[in-house]
Amino acid sequence: MDLDTFNNTCFYKLKNIPPIPDLFVASAEQAVYKTHDQHKQLAHSNTSVAKDFRSTKFCRILQNNFSINVDYFKNDPHSFYKFHKDAPWQAMPRTCSINIWLSGNPGAITMFSDTEINKLTNQVFICNYEKCVPFLFNSQIPHAVVNPFNEARYILSIGFHIAPYERVKKFLDETDFGHDLYSPA
Ligand SMILES: [Fe+2]
Repeated sequence: MDLDTFNNTCFYKLKNIPPIPDLFVASAEQAVYKTHDQHKQLAHSNTSVAKDFRSTKFCRILQNNFSINVDYFKNDPHSFYKFHKDAPWQAMPRTCSINIWLSGNPGAITMFSDTEINKLTNQVFICNYEKCVPFLFNSQIPHAVVNPFNEARYILSIGFHIAPYERVKKFLDETDFGHDLYSPA
């Protein structure tokens, strides 16, 4: 994988979708999270359903076109979320997601690997998130998160089921979501 491939097929700054408002940052920081042992969903870490963001006009438009779930994710201090794909063996795998870094540790690193998960060494590409800016994330490419600092990190993640990354990317680039897309539907 080279850098251009990474920027187009793994991780993509969405041209058409503006940064999200700060009120969702506070919501993520105050949410109650379930650990993997509590929610039992494969390939998910600490999650909390983002009911407030799910009811925005933006998410309603997505729901009219795709099967999605909308969650806050929390990467604990001093944690490593090991290399994985988002459960491709399930009937409804998360094929891709819109990921938005909301707050917390900017030193936490999300990365994609080249194709093999269990090689002794991996080629890695770092996801250069910008605060509150939506990126499309290909969760069928092996990825991991390391947070080596004493501060949690919060992500808003809109997961798409079944629909391939390229189809979602085309839809998001070509759809006019209007000006008030983050107000309640
Ligand atoms: Fe994942």
